[in-house]
Amino acid sequence: MSERKPVTLHRLQEMHASGEKIAMLTCYDAAFAHVLDQAGVDILLVGDSLGTVLQAESTTTPVQLADMVYHTRLVARGNKTAWLLGDLPFGSYHESPQQAWRSSLALMQAGAHMVKLECGDWAVDTVRFLTARGIPVCAHLGFTPQTVSALGGFKVQGRGAAAEHVKEQARAFVEAGAQMLLFEMIPAALAREITAWSPVPVIGIGAGLDCSGQVLVLHDMLDITPGRRPRFVKNFMSGTDSIAGAVARYVAEVKSGQFPDEAVHAFT
Ligand code: KIV
Repeated sequence: MSERKPVTLHRLQEMHASGEKIAMLTCYDAAFAHVLDQAGVDILLVGDSLGTVLQAESTTTPVQLADMVYHTRLVARGNKTAWLLGDLPFGSYHESPQQAWRSSLALMQAGAHMVKLECGDWAVDTVRFLTARGIPVCAHLGFTPQTVSALGGFKVQGRGAAAEHVKEQARAFVEAGAQMLLFEMIPAALAREITAWSPVPVIGIGAGLDCSGQVLVLHDMLDITPGRRPRFVKNFMSGTDSIAGAVARYVAEVKSGQFPDEAVHAFT
């Protein structure tokens, strides 16, 4: 894997178009970045989930932009070839497109190749503003953890009549220039329909098998997160004696379509 060419946006587009699955994991430091990159993970996400998994907060809401810049820099140092996606934390992009630009710039200067925003309808203009100025954007839709309080808890989004709204959002963000969509906790059939139509890669977490790729929180799939796991998580350490082995198995199972198992890890 050390000979792999750098993963580019163009390469991710090709994978989406050809049906080759994209493997993404969260990553927060240089040591893990090296292991994940060597194991063939296509995208490292410096997720604001670091608030819960590293900082022991109960939600991601308290995470600061300075935290994200610091961890993005660490991951960039350990990574050689994976695409590096950095999360904009809560409050760092909501005020105005200009605020989003300044926060994105800080992540890009720390080594991110693309930024991810948790999007509501209000964010379309912000995504347009960023992409027009050369910042690649991933629009995170469906369940958005930063607004868990407003959503009334960890709930599947886009069921029943709400599916139409999710489809409209996907179209609006692609039209605004988003080069990647990420869907969290939506019905598998809805994610399948959007992925079949989408001109850009669609990454799923709790969104079924038929997305262009999958993401999990690293500490969840290594089974070191305290407490209950979400339904869509699989323990990849089980039956393996090393972290590198667990990550390699995750990559293999995503690529072969063995993970996720829709009967176990998806929603209807
Ligand atoms: O912060 C994060 O880890 C994420 C994933 C849940 C996709 O946004």
